[in-house]
Amino acid sequence: MTDIATYEDCLLLVDKFYDKLLIDTEISHYFVHLDLTVHIPRVADFWAFILVDKAGYSGNMMAAHAKLPLKESDFKQWLKLFQETVAENFHGEKAQFALERSKLIAWTMTSKMGK
Ligand code: HEM
Repeated sequence: MTDIATYEDCLLLVDKFYDKLLIDTEISHYFVHLDLTVHIPRVADFWAFILVDKAGYSGNMMAAHAKLPLKESDFKQWLKLFQETVAENFHGEKAQFALERSKLIAWTMTSKMGK
């Protein structure tokens, strides 16, 4: 298993993550209606900015979620699936950083908007 090193790795990570999200009984309902041809590259851009220093993400991540009725348990499930996806596909310093950073962001979002 290799580490996360390129934009293509970030895209693969997000693709695999959404394979899980879209069939998850707890939180798939947030995602099934999205246009994934638009959404997945945006989320990959977000992670590429964090993990491989690639400029390109220009959204407002917090605002995108503020309008959703997210519960604390939704964040827990999101994080569990994200962490599983990282661990199943990558190994190394950046993969470790992805695990840490996703936990930190999910906790921050939970404290701001988790009900
Ligand atoms: C309860 C857990 C979460 C759910 C149900 C959720 C759901 C969603 C949905 C439905 C969107 C699309 C919003 C829209 O286009 O109107 C979105 C966007 C996004 N989410 Fe999440 N999300 C969750 C947690 C997270 C976390 C913890 C992160 C980051 C670590 C994250 C990163 C993103 C990014 C980068 C976008 C794209 C925002 C943009 O369009 O610029 N999400 N999320």
